[in-house]
Amino acid sequence: MTHKPAPPRVETVAGGRAHAAVKKPWYGSVPGLRIFLSPTEAIPPVLTGEEDEAAADQVGPTARPVDVPPFSRPGSVLRASPGAAARGWYAPKLAGAPTTTRQAEILNTGIIGAPTGIEGVVNGTDNLSSTMISHDAPTAYNASPRKLTSPNVLIIGTVGSGKSSFTKTVMVMRPLLLKNHRAVVFDKKDEGGEGEYAALTRRMGTEPLRFDPDGTGTRFNLMDPLIAQGTGLQGQMLLINAVARIARDDTAATEWEEKATRHALQLLFDKFQDTRRAATTTDLMPYLGMVPTDQGLSGEASERFHQAGLSIRFGLQNLLETYAGVFDGETSRHVDLSHKLTTFDISQLPDSGPAIPTVMAIGNMWLMGRLHQERGFITNVIYEEGWHMIGGPSAQLVKSNQKLSRSLGISNVFVMHKGTDIPADSPGYTVVQEAQTVYAFRQDRPEDARWAQETFNFAPDTTATLMGLNPGNCVFKYGSNPETHIRHIRSDWEIEVTNTDSAMAAGDTPT
Ligand SMILES: Nc1ncnc2c1ncn2[C@@H]1O[C@H](COP(=O)(O)OP(=O)(O)O)[C@@H](O)[C@H]1O
Ligand SMILES: [Mg+2]
Repeated sequence: MTHKPAPPRVETVAGGRAHAAVKKPWYGSVPGLRIFLSPTEAIPPVLTGEEDEAAADQVGPTARPVDVPPFSRPGSVLRASPGAAARGWYAPKLAGAPTTTRQAEILNTGIIGAPTGIEGVVNGTDNLSSTMISHDAPTAYNASPRKLTSPNVLIIGTVGSGKSSFTKTVMVMRPLLLKNHRAVVFDKKDEGGEGEYAALTRRMGTEPLRFDPDGTGTRFNLMDPLIAQGTGLQGQMLLINAVARIARDDTAATEWEEKATRHALQLLFDKFQDTRRAATTTDLMPYLGMVPTDQGLSGEASERFHQAGLSIRFGLQNLLETYAGVFDGETSRHVDLSHKLTTFDISQLPDSGPAIPTVMAIGNMWLMGRLHQERGFITNVIYEEGWHMIGGPSAQLVKSNQKLSRSLGISNVFVMHKGTDIPADSPGYTVVQEAQTVYAFRQDRPEDARWAQETFNFAPDTTATLMGLNPGNCVFKYGSNPETHIRHIRSDWEIEVTNTDSAMAAGDTPT
């Protein structure tokens, strides 16, 4: 099929067939004056039949007015005298700009907008705009309208990248200046025999609550009455399950074991209803393994029920025996939130094994109950080495308590090296994904940098940026705003309190 070439548009405008009906002014047909014709609405030629099916598709079934394309204007008559041109008459006197004004506008955007407002806490400066970055997750969460859907914060970065210095200033010291803000820290890093937050805690006017494996320090009761007050029997159940799982080398409780635990708890609560003393883990032990008599269990099922209870009992007993004085007995009296800063110093507990995640898990649940009694505060809860909390069995606690903890004004801050340790299908991964504020410090391994880029939807080239960040520099993202690269800036006394150089000089490695 052959197509006739479409008639040039200029004809259409200047009097093609579509305009035959419109009366032209008299000068419309005078060659020199035609340029004064006002640009009229051009009606595209009505294409018929095989004339141009494709063009007809584009135009649509009904012809409608279109703008006059500039190239179809008649324009002025070109000056084309070779003699004048040779003498330079037509050439511009000045060399033109290399681009047009319209194109150049984009190069001069004037001011690059500040990525955040001025509310919350000063974090540092934006590397691109040199403006101040100010952000505080709970403040943004409580703003109306809400700027975030979760007040939780994630801080990742390799050893020595500046996470702890940042956390101490931006998550602890500075927010404490705000009204009704306080902080609770699980201080994991040993620095000369005590936690790295010890000096800071003393500056704030209180002593860290020290946990010692030899049992001379602070004690946390797995069965603390505040736990059930805050989260109910269900919360107490969850905690025992999580701790039993931690104590049994990450072996999850079976359905039978859960049932046996619930039964034991009910018996214990009935017994301790009216007593003055709080129930302890030791009190729970004899009930684990008791078989309900009112459920018509067969002999075999009773035996299985009994064994399931015993299995949890032995797991917990191991924990109590290994850390007698840490989890055995009532919670120490000095465990309270009476100060703006409460530091649980867990730096002396062994790195591996169940003690650290267990203290974090009990602490998390205890806080729910404690804050239940005292509303109106915003509490930043900092988990240094937060992997212990969201990389293992305790993550389920955090996940189940998300809603409650938000309503109690808790902002969980998880500080850890990298995210690749958290299995993608675990409750911990959900917690990570739900954190709406992310500070990513240097990542040494490409797979860790890529994990951060993919998980938080950073720009693709941020993967390379993450691997080249200097200490104190990080990629920051909140909500669905684009990420910014920020430099954390500390005052002199903040440097003094946060630096871990003393430990490094003493041969310790910062973590
Ligand atoms: N904002 C900063 N500017 C310059 N140096 C910093 C900054 N933050 C941290 N550093 C340096 O990095 C060192 C390690 O910081 P630290 O917070 O302990 O890292 P991490 O907790 O990631 O291991 C600090 O002792 C300090 O010398
Ligand atoms: Mg650290």
